[in-house]
Amino acid sequence: VSDLTLAELEGKRVFVRADLNVPLDENQNITDDTRIRAAVPTIKYLISNGAKVILSSHLGRPKGVTPKFSLSPLVPRLSELLGIKVEKADDCVGPEVEKLVSALPNGSVLLLENVRFYKEEEKNEPEFAKKLASLADLYVNDAFGTAHRAHASTEGVTKFLKPSVAGFLLQKELDYLVGAVSSPKRPFAAIVGGSKVSSKIGVIESLLEKCDILLLGGGMIFTFYKAQGLSVGSSLVEEDKLDLATSLMAKAKEKGVSLLLPTDVVVADKFAADAESKIVPASAIPDGWMGLDIGPDSIKTFNDALETTKTVIWNGPMGVFEFDQFATGTEAVAKKLAELSGKGVTTIIGGGDSVAAVEKVGVANVMSHISTGGGASLELLEGKELPGVNALDEASVSVAV
Ligand code: 3PG
Repeated sequence: VSDLTLAELEGKRVFVRADLNVPLDENQNITDDTRIRAAVPTIKYLISNGAKVILSSHLGRPKGVTPKFSLSPLVPRLSELLGIKVEKADDCVGPEVEKLVSALPNGSVLLLENVRFYKEEEKNEPEFAKKLASLADLYVNDAFGTAHRAHASTEGVTKFLKPSVAGFLLQKELDYLVGAVSSPKRPFAAIVGGSKVSSKIGVIESLLEKCDILLLGGGMIFTFYKAQGLSVGSSLVEEDKLDLATSLMAKAKEKGVSLLLPTDVVVADKFAADAESKIVPASAIPDGWMGLDIGPDSIKTFNDALETTKTVIWNGPMGVFEFDQFATGTEAVAKKLAELSGKGVTTIIGGGDSVAAVEKVGVANVMSHISTGGGASLELLEGKELPGVNALDEASVSVAV
């Protein structure tokens, strides 16, 4: 977006697709405004250069027009962060919206209603994309969290609006999740957690090609333990992924990647916040007990392995961190990454639960990059191309941060 000069933006109608899909409580209060704050730099840049911003997003997964999925509750926070009064349309296409757009002064923002109120959005219907496009002169995609969806407002619209460029947030996400991961400063460590190995296969396989050290945690480790012939008690195991776990360990060896599994675990007598728990070696999980976190020896081993790294990417918790007594491993990783960040290590937090963990520990602001995308960041880390990004490449506009 910074490639667009002042002359190109002054008085221009710019369609900005952001991902303002924020959580709301039952009273329609925003419980986490991260995605709104992340969208601000691009919008501010555009309005400060005299553009008329037509801001579009989805919220939730509505089936047709559903008041509880309206974008109206976002207007006060957006206005506050941008320092101007943001106007809001009751629709995202049609004559009323056109009227509001034509009345926009330079340097203003009109927030369109939830674009998913139209089923044509997710179906990526060209006629609908054309209607969205007809509102504006150029297109900026800053909706990283939705870039893995080929929808009308993320992909279809680019066919009708030239130029179509990336916003600052989208560009930053690509710089870190693709750039820093593909050409990392080494040693490069990847920390992958989460409950199931099946949901992280693509990420592990792709990172094994790039990293020097791979640390595994979370529920998925029990599938690896079992594949090694260890007893896992009543821990979560994906029986149909035992061979896969074995082949991932073999692949790590073949690639010269140092793959570390936790050496001890916190086991519990039930899956509950108030469960009875104890620390046992990974090789001695008793029958009837389930592993819910990594233990202190593992934390130490992981911290030592991370000590000399120059780039670290983290995706997925080390344990059931929603329960305080099983949050220690996940919090220890967050703290270690914060410490490394302070020493100039590039620290990247890829989406979802690990972001929540970093926020819970209060170290979000010190990380090099925290992704705003869950599914989108996973797909990028798996090495997939994102339709919302590819559509911009097709428009062949190079964008610098
Ligand atoms: C997300 O929250 O991951 C994005 O906003 C995408 O939402 P979706 O999964 O409903 O497409």
